[in-house]
Amino acid sequence: MRGRRKSPGPERPVSEANKSGSGSRGNDSRKPLISGNWKMNHNHFEAIQTIQKLAYALNRDDYLHVEVSVHPPFTDLRSVQTVLQADDIPVALGAQDCHHDDAGAFTGEVSAAMLAKLDVSYVIVGHSERRALFGETDETVNAKARAVLRHNMTPIVCVGETLEHRQAGGAREVVSAQLAGSLDGLDAAVVGALVVAYEPVWAIGTGETASPGDAQDMCAHVRSQVADRWGSEAAAGLRVQYGGSVKPSNAPDLMEQADIDGALVGGASLDAAEFARIVNHRLYGT
Ligand code: 13P
Repeated sequence: MRGRRKSPGPERPVSEANKSGSGSRGNDSRKPLISGNWKMNHNHFEAIQTIQKLAYALNRDDYLHVEVSVHPPFTDLRSVQTVLQADDIPVALGAQDCHHDDAGAFTGEVSAAMLAKLDVSYVIVGHSERRALFGETDETVNAKARAVLRHNMTPIVCVGETLEHRQAGGAREVVSAQLAGSLDGLDAAVVGALVVAYEPVWAIGTGETASPGDAQDMCAHVRSQVADRWGSEAAAGLRVQYGGSVKPSNAPDLMEQADIDGALVGGASLDAAEFARIVNHRLYGT
């Protein structure tokens, strides 16, 4: 028994999906994207097992409704790429970070050029852990996003406020500034095709999730900021993920929100069965 399965019904085109907020969907570029950020977890043996279990837990119908990406550590990428290709698994390969130069004397770094050679499709840039623990600024995030785009991959640009910002009533301003800096100088067409992940820092790894209403509010804010600066077409195309303690139990309510176009999942993506339940959240909603 997989839970409360909704009657299948005819599949509606994304443009007619139940999205009523500021981000009424204009095209199917807003197919929801559910991404598993494994962070520094799973060696390459564990990665292979996890991806095989995930493929087993998902079916073609799931991929019709949702795009799925996994973001293993760098050392696992080649192994996961091989499994995805050999078994023809329609899960996109993602990375967690990159360097903004293509090559050079940067000990320990991995370039976007190298990731592109591994058939990576999505690269997370500016995750709050990188901003807080490794000193990344909006300027470096912008340079990384440009490197990802230069190599024909899609950046998942992370933004989100800390608890202090939120308690002081400054969440919107913080997110606006991060967006403006991280996307600075990009063309409207480019912005309309990328992914922004709104991840409130206080909800990451804490078990505390933003309420669906608060998450929607901030994701709508992201979209309206993009509309103001890059125009309504870019805003309508941009996919905005929510991240922060997403789990099978809260995914249906979060994913139902008008301006939430997917999830960036940390801890719950490490277990294939749990992550699969998030991917097919539509089967479990009320
Ligand atoms: P958790 O899902 O573990 O809270 O992590 C969220 C996250 O940081 C994804 O990038």
